Formats: sequence, C-alpha cells, structure tokens
Amino acid sequence: MTSERLPIIDLDLSDVESGMALSSEAGWNQTADDWRHFITNGQAIGVRAPGGRLVGSAAALPYDGPFGFIGMVLVTPQWRRRGIATQLVDQCIKVLCEKGLTPVLDATADGEAVYRKQGFVPQFRFDRWERPALTSPDKTAQTDAPSVCAMATLVDLDHEAFGADRRRLMADFLDRNATKALCAEDNSGFALVRDGRRAAQAGPVVASSQHQALQLLERLVAGVHGALFIDVPSTWQDIGRWLGESGFAIQRSFARMALDRARPFGNPQHLFAVAGPEFG
Ligand SMILES: CC(C)(COP(=O)(O)OP(=O)(O)OC[C@H]1O[C@@H](n2cnc3c(N)ncnc32)[C@H](O)[C@@H]1OP(=O)(O)O)[C@@H](O)C(=O)NCCC(=O)NCCS
Repeated sequence: MTSERLPIIDLDLSDVESGMALSSEAGWNQTADDWRHFITNGQAIGVRAPGGRLVGSAAALPYDGPFGFIGMVLVTPQWRRRGIATQLVDQCIKVLCEKGLTPVLDATADGEAVYRKQGFVPQFRFDRWERPALTSPDKTAQTDAPSVCAMATLVDLDHEAFGADRRRLMADFLDRNATKALCAEDNSGFALVRDGRRAAQAGPVVASSQHQALQLLERLVAGVHGALFIDVPSTWQDIGRWLGESGFAIQRSFARMALDRARPFGNPQHLFAVAGPEFG
C-alpha cells in the first residue's frame, strides 16, 4: 500500500500541538520549544490522514558546516509500513542536499531499518541513560550556582566536537528558563541540561578528556533531582560505569548515521554526550 493520497505538507507554528501529540504518543521527550525550533529554523514537514490528523512528521535542520540534521521522524502506529517515513526522509534529504549539506541523523532501531535502505551508514553508536527522579535528594551534594558560560566559548567548543556551528540551537537552549550551563574552569569543556517532556535532558557535553567530562557530569547531575536522560557515545566506558553506579540504566541505543559517509564529522574524542537524537 502506498501513501500517494497523503501529500507532504509544510508544518508551521500552528502544528506544534499536533507535533507534540505525535512525539508524546511515541514516548519521546521533546517539548513544544523543540518543535518550534525545527519549524522556525529548519523545514518541518508531515502528512495528514484524510480526516486532517497529523500522522507522520520529519524535519530537516541545516547547520552551518558540512552537514544538516534530520529529526522528528515519526509515523503513528496505524499508518506505519506504507512508505510514509521513507517519503518524508527522502524530502528532507532533498532539502539538505540542495543546500550542499550531507544529511545526518540519529536512528532508533526502527528508524535504522528505514534509513539503511536509503543509503545511510552508521558512524558511531550511543546509549540513552535514564535516571528516575530522586526520592530523597542528597541535600549535602554540592550544587552549582548557574555558571556564566560565555556563549562564544560554548559555540566554539560545540562546533569543534560536533563538526558544525549550531549557534542558533545553543542560543535557543540557553534562552529556556530551566537550562543550566556548566563550564570547565579552563574553558575547555562545558555541559548543558535543559527541560524535557518526561525528564531533563543533559547534553551536549564537550570536554578535552573523559576525566574532565566526568568532573562536569558529577557537577551537572548533582544539581538535577528530577528524572534525567543523557545520550553518551558507547565508547566512553568509564562514563558508562559511573552512570551505572549513579542510578542510571540504559533505556535504548541509537546510531548516528550519515548518507553514504561512515567517518564521523567533528572530533568524537571531545564529544561525551550529544544534544539529543533529534538535534544530533
Ligand atoms: C521508524 C518509523 C518512522 C518508520 O515509519 P514507516 O512509515 O512505517 O516506515 P516505512 O513504511 O517508510 O518503511 C520503509 C521500510 O523500512 C523498513 N522498516 C520500517 N519499519 C521497520 C521495522 N519496525 N522493522 C523492520 N523494518 C522496518 C522496511 O523495510 C520498510 O519497508 P517495507 O514495509 O516495504 O518492508 C516508525 O516505525 C515510527 O514512527 N517508529 C517510532 C518512532 C521512531 O523510532 N522513529 C524513528 C526515529 S530515528
């Protein structure tokens, strides 16, 4: 069965609520602010069922650099396996390629099956670690006053580790009330945490070494008492061990994939947590 009768539409800010319905139905953590970011800074697209309900979505987010990101690929269960995700991702690929950008995305296991057929190849894998809300927060834990993290430093560090300039995304995160940014004393690393629908989302975490990343994470995690997610490249075993000892468990895993390119962008040696699978 094909989706020929379901044309692709552009989403605008009036679709934030229906986008939230799709991502919440899948148990995802995105907020209305996240949807707004895609709609305002990228091209968010979807398909509607004949009754008008949004049943599929995807978004292409160009970054300043050699690649752009594809996120929010969702199809409601009753409309799956009809080629809708393939059609939406094809459109996002077109949008990014026309700008000369390599399409990159973070795939769930379901998504990986779709994207492999389209020519995406894995670059590296990462795990989503989840810690439930603390029932009795450690009142003695050292928590940080929100630190003054110079925006320019944060953007430059993120650029080097991630491989593209994401200043609009970083500015959006920092504008949100609940966001906290911690910087390493020598300004060679930083860690962010922001609000999510189900749990606070830590990331990106950029550092000059795994040791420095752990120090940043210890400070960051001590300041969050609610449920917390963090997406850590599987290669960082010391961090994985520490998260396991600190009440986190792996919820699921993802693959960073790029169209026809196995070599990661940026500097994976400095990337200790991604911003989230929707943004990379
Ligand atoms: C992943 C998802 C978007 C796929 O949407 P979809 O519209 O059903 O995908 P398509 O119909 O375009 O699938 C194309 C092909 O990919 C493969 N595929 C898709 N879903 C698959 C699955 N769950 N298991 C194995 N193969 C799958 C199949 O080969 C399929 O072709 P076929 O149906 O002819 O066999 C949908 O399952 C979904 O929303 N899942 C939950 C959210 C999610 O994980 N999103 C991906 C984020 S990276």
